[in-house]
Amino acid sequence: MSNPFLVMEDQLIANALKIRFFPITVQSAKGTRLTDPNGKEYLDLTAGWAVAGIGYSHQRISQVIKEQYDTLSFTSQLSAPEQTMVALANKLVEITPGNFSKKVWFGHSGSDANDCIAKLVPLAKKRSRMISFMGSYHGQTMGSLSLSGHPAQSMFIGSGNVIKIPYPNPYRPPFGETNRLTDQVLQYLEDEVFRTVCPPEQTAGLIIEGIQSDGGLIVPPDDFLPRLEKLCKHYDIALIFDEVKVGMGRTGKWFSYEHTGVTPDATVLGKSLGAGLPLSAVVARQEILDVGSGIHMFTTSGNPVCSRAALENIAILEEEFLLKQAQENGDYFMKLLKELQTKVEWIGDVRGHGLAIGIELVEDRITKTPATEKTAAICYRCYELGLLVFYVGIHSNVIEITPPLTITKEEIEHAVSVLEQAFTDLAYGKIDMDLVKSSQDGS
Ligand SMILES: Cc1ncc(COP(=O)(O)O)c(C=O)c1O
Repeated sequence: MSNPFLVMEDQLIANALKIRFFPITVQSAKGTRLTDPNGKEYLDLTAGWAVAGIGYSHQRISQVIKEQYDTLSFTSQLSAPEQTMVALANKLVEITPGNFSKKVWFGHSGSDANDCIAKLVPLAKKRSRMISFMGSYHGQTMGSLSLSGHPAQSMFIGSGNVIKIPYPNPYRPPFGETNRLTDQVLQYLEDEVFRTVCPPEQTAGLIIEGIQSDGGLIVPPDDFLPRLEKLCKHYDIALIFDEVKVGMGRTGKWFSYEHTGVTPDATVLGKSLGAGLPLSAVVARQEILDVGSGIHMFTTSGNPVCSRAALENIAILEEEFLLKQAQENGDYFMKLLKELQTKVEWIGDVRGHGLAIGIELVEDRITKTPATEKTAAICYRCYELGLLVFYVGIHSNVIEITPPLTITKEEIEHAVSVLEQAFTDLAYGKIDMDLVKSSQDGS
């Protein structure tokens, strides 16, 4: 490691906080671009793990943060509430589907919001068990990791009340047949899971990502979510959507599940909600969030500066028609990537919705052997070429594309040309694989 800043960072910052793909350091950011200390600019298709939904350093956000801090920098909403947080709750209730009485809980990260679900749903339903999906990523606190089914959390023994079932992955169908995927996963749930380890009358809730993002940007078949909703209703099991990564407009609607018309009992939000400031929320049926007083509270929850930023964020998304743009530009991105797929044998699948897109790399399209090293190499080469992409997936072989929703068609064309260049360089052995390996995971 030759960069003196990275040497110091390596000495001082806990590895527990790191997941690294290339040795970038960031000096500043604006819109869709990051700039490093040498002045090199990068087009960012990661949006910092999908946080910079409206892009970086939006002028309107910067202004309201300052105004809010000058007026009221902080109050603990737990004991002395103020109006900004309440206005934000009102807006979130308005944009979340469900013609029933809803309330809002606020926290700081997707993890603490999913902890809210892990704690409150079993209490509210007076049932102890929960169901989640293999490959899901709900966070790193003990409650949220218990709900997760991702290898990132597999070294921890979480709470034993959560049963994990296969996610309906059309590209790698867990029961072998893509055209019977919904039937097979739901049959497994009803005939095997409910009859053995997780009786429905003991099951409080089921949590799912509408698009399983860290699991590999997997989009379930169209009929899966509506049929899952029906099944949950039948057994009176709360249906919870984790929209932390793909919510807030990324897929072209406020929430990814809206494309299938389902109405969950709870929606979990985080990441881009605070426009870069730490803020998460659960919007849920009143009876879930009112199950007890003071049982899931954090001193700085819903703080006025974050709440004000989130309100302005939502106003920008609405006034700049960014949901529509995410849908249109997402379709365009996907079209160009599908064209690229016809030229690159290693691209096994391109999938997604709006500006949540995954490119799955395989050694060949017949065996579908995950091309893990090649995926890392492509991300690394893109970084060298001024384009930032991370990879996800339980085999670490899916390039994740979650840019700011403000990305333009020209930037999309540029991004695809850089990806194409990276694939060409890989084919011609121009990528230093030792450098790629030494850049992974802070090693
Ligand atoms: C779907 C989903 N839920 C929850 C989380 C956890 O959010 P955080 O890292 O803000 O705690 C993530 C993070 O990647 C996520 O993608």
